[in-house]
Amino acid sequence: MTKKCITILGIESSCDDTSAAVIKDAKILSNIVANQEVHQDYGGVVPELASRAHQQNIVPVVNQALKIANISKEQVDAIAFTRGPGLMGSLLVGTSFAKSLALALNVPLIDVNHMEGHIMAHFIDEGQEMPVFPFLCLTVSGGHTQIVHIEEHFKMTVIGETIDDAAGEAFDKSAKILGLQYPGGPLIDKYAKKGNPTAFKFTKPRVKDLEFSFSGLKSNILQLVQREQKKEVDFIKNNLEDLCASIQHTIIEILLEKVGNAVKETGIKRIAIAGGVSANSGLRKALKDREKSHNWKVYIPKFEYCTDNAAMIAIVGYHKFLQNKFTDSSITATARMKLGLH
Ligand code: KG4
Ligand code: ZN
Repeated sequence: MTKKCITILGIESSCDDTSAAVIKDAKILSNIVANQEVHQDYGGVVPELASRAHQQNIVPVVNQALKIANISKEQVDAIAFTRGPGLMGSLLVGTSFAKSLALALNVPLIDVNHMEGHIMAHFIDEGQEMPVFPFLCLTVSGGHTQIVHIEEHFKMTVIGETIDDAAGEAFDKSAKILGLQYPGGPLIDKYAKKGNPTAFKFTKPRVKDLEFSFSGLKSNILQLVQREQKKEVDFIKNNLEDLCASIQHTIIEILLEKVGNAVKETGIKRIAIAGGVSANSGLRKALKDREKSHNWKVYIPKFEYCTDNAAMIAIVGYHKFLQNKFTDSSITATARMKLGLH
């Protein structure tokens, strides 16, 4: 008898992307993401607007994910959803929807930690080489910057963390100083490609071995820009590419210095990256270069699994399904949620 495949519907709504994905065992059949452009004019995510947009998007996004996967609701074996961390109003939409749908279809419900999803995206089967345990993951997103030590699928420990801003925030806040639209990370990446990464020098933070800090960089950039604008009104416009390249270079140096410290402390040379900032082309290249120069083994996710998506929630759902890690409808969303707690 052939083994039955497991089909999971994943739902993600922790911040400003509404997403649904269907996974069959470890292979993705669909991964639909509805971005919320409404926040661009405000220079950041407006929580109230985000939850309203999730309410509007969730049904069409789920229907589209099922349609692209070419399955009916009745073929879904379980529903996995993001429980936290994230914006409470946004999480509530996905959580309530997942609970209702699981109840209506009479299938099990699986709660997923969003940050674990970012890391586990590496186990989506795209025919690529998957990380071998134990490995370290640099998880860099809009809300988090962590170095995580992963021993098994559900055994992970945060060994390093930011004491103030996240790496994604450092990109977005720097971009805001330069007058770029939210989210500024991808725009800095774009302009940095044509700039000189050593044109401007910024000071590096002085924090403990495995800690990150980005708030000083932000003040440093602001001071430089204000000082230079007094001499040259169009300073930003005339130096945009060099500014972006230098900012990106500094953030990457800070991140990789800490990864280097983590390698020294743990003796583990297998390094993965995850989260929205792992889409950054400079970071991806710098890490690839270290693979050769430092003899590391590096795992870089596909672009579509870097920023928020439901495929990463569905793959966690699949592994939890295999281990019978289900929840029930008394579960509630939680804005703060630690890694590794089940
Ligand atoms: O993981 P994510 O989609 O959402 C959170 O969980 O926060 O990460 C979003 C962050 C934003 O700060 C965004 O500017 C950043 O990831 N980001 C980038 C790039 N693409 C997204 N930062 C630098 N370069 C990129 N190419
Ligand atoms: Zn995220």
